[in-house]
Amino acid sequence: MRAGLLLAILPSAVMGFNLFRPATLAPTKTLDRRDSWGGAVSLGPTKSRITKAVTTIIPGDAPPSQSGDLFLWPGMSNGTGDLVQTTLESWPDNSWCGASSGEWCIRCSLFGSFGQLDGDASPVSGDMAVEILYELQSDGTTWKQTATDVSTGKQLSSFSHASGPYMTGYGTGTECNDGCTGTVAAQTYTDTVITLHEADSSFGDTIATSQGATYSGLSSADNKIWTIKTINIPAMK
Ligand SMILES: *[C@@H]1O[C@H](CO)[C@@H](O)[C@H](O)[C@H]1NC(C)=O
Repeated sequence: MRAGLLLAILPSAVMGFNLFRPATLAPTKTLDRRDSWGGAVSLGPTKSRITKAVTTIIPGDAPPSQSGDLFLWPGMSNGTGDLVQTTLESWPDNSWCGASSGEWCIRCSLFGSFGQLDGDASPVSGDMAVEILYELQSDGTTWKQTATDVSTGKQLSSFSHASGPYMTGYGTGTECNDGCTGTVAAQTYTDTVITLHEADSSFGDTIATSQGATYSGLSSADNKIWTIKTINIPAMK
């Protein structure tokens, strides 16, 4: 279970777009003062809508021991609907997915009025390049999440759900809850490509960074397919 992270809200002052988890999911939990955020890069909302988003994360080693819960994710939402969020997870005991000390668990997850829904989970080592793909299916409403080990092509997790076509924001998150042990290594997100339904010439202007995160190579040839060559998220101090 990931109940502890359900009420977390990205601080709007530092983010271009809030990829929040609906508060209705955990009515008894209040935002823990010890909850905190590492670096993040986000884009949105677009004047159009997102139809596909893909990135490749190299997460770096997970903390060798964990005192709370720590999550790395690219998230996608429109601010009121479902939150699509394949997540690398560090819990005090990560053996539930078969991970060893210093490894992450990954699973494709969805947050919404129904609570949390998850795909299968797999262990991820710190040096593994993991492609995380969110793709609107041909029915125009179902989003398929797929996480793949790039070097072997092995599927690590997947999940599909009809969340509607109106996804307008995308961003990374480093989420530290319940007094977590923070990240001990940097993360890189490479070749992030966000495809819009229609051209939006101002989408690039919505990019925002926080907590020392940096990006390079933001470009679009047609204002419809937007690429961010690299995103670097420093280890939490
Ligand atoms: C977000 O998506 C849901 C599901 O498609 C939709 O009902 C809602 O109106 C959207 N919200 C915004 C702000 O676009």
